[in-house]
Amino acid sequence: MKQKKLKVLYSESKIKSRVKSLAKEIVQDYSKRKSNKSVVIISVLKGAFIFTADLIREIKLPIQLEFVRISSYGSGTISSGKIDAPLLMLPDLTGRDILIIEDIVDSGRTIGFLKEYIRDQFKPRSLKVASLLNKKSRREIDILADYVGFEVDDYFLVGYGLDSAEDFRHLPYLAIYE
Ligand code: IMP
Ligand code: MG
Repeated sequence: MKQKKLKVLYSESKIKSRVKSLAKEIVQDYSKRKSNKSVVIISVLKGAFIFTADLIREIKLPIQLEFVRISSYGSGTISSGKIDAPLLMLPDLTGRDILIIEDIVDSGRTIGFLKEYIRDQFKPRSLKVASLLNKKSRREIDILADYVGFEVDDYFLVGYGLDSAEDFRHLPYLAIYE
């Protein structure tokens, strides 16, 4: 079997400036809303943890931060098709403005499942998705991400929170692992 290699796709500085402009867009949109409650950010662990930490520090608005751990991937590089939700505990978020933060939208199953769950449970005032990466070509569920850092082709990516069988999450850049 051929040895897999890491090839940098987005450098640390490129990610940093994109995250900044994304946060600006989010702040502009959410500061127009007429509600005195904070925006609820739901970060999808583990992959979105670095993106979330960087993004929210650029969001100059009152926010409430929550985490869920859910995915549709096994340890392989192809979506297993099943949703795994080892941590799906949220406080009462009825009627709130909710923004889900995800690392990558691939088949769309994870976000599709989570959006449906949140809608059922909390009837949110608004429900949007911010994803660092969007792999549109692999979509199986009709899901749109409202804010996207980078549109990517069908590569398997690691770093900046994303893993391959739990390796490489700590890399400060995003790399193609093939
Ligand atoms: P979906 O449910 O197929 O949209 O998959 C989304 C989840 O799969 C993400 O939260 C990631 O954890 C994982 N994933 C999808 N593509 C990649 C990739 O290129 N690298 C690492 N993880 C990925
Ligand atoms: Mg994930």
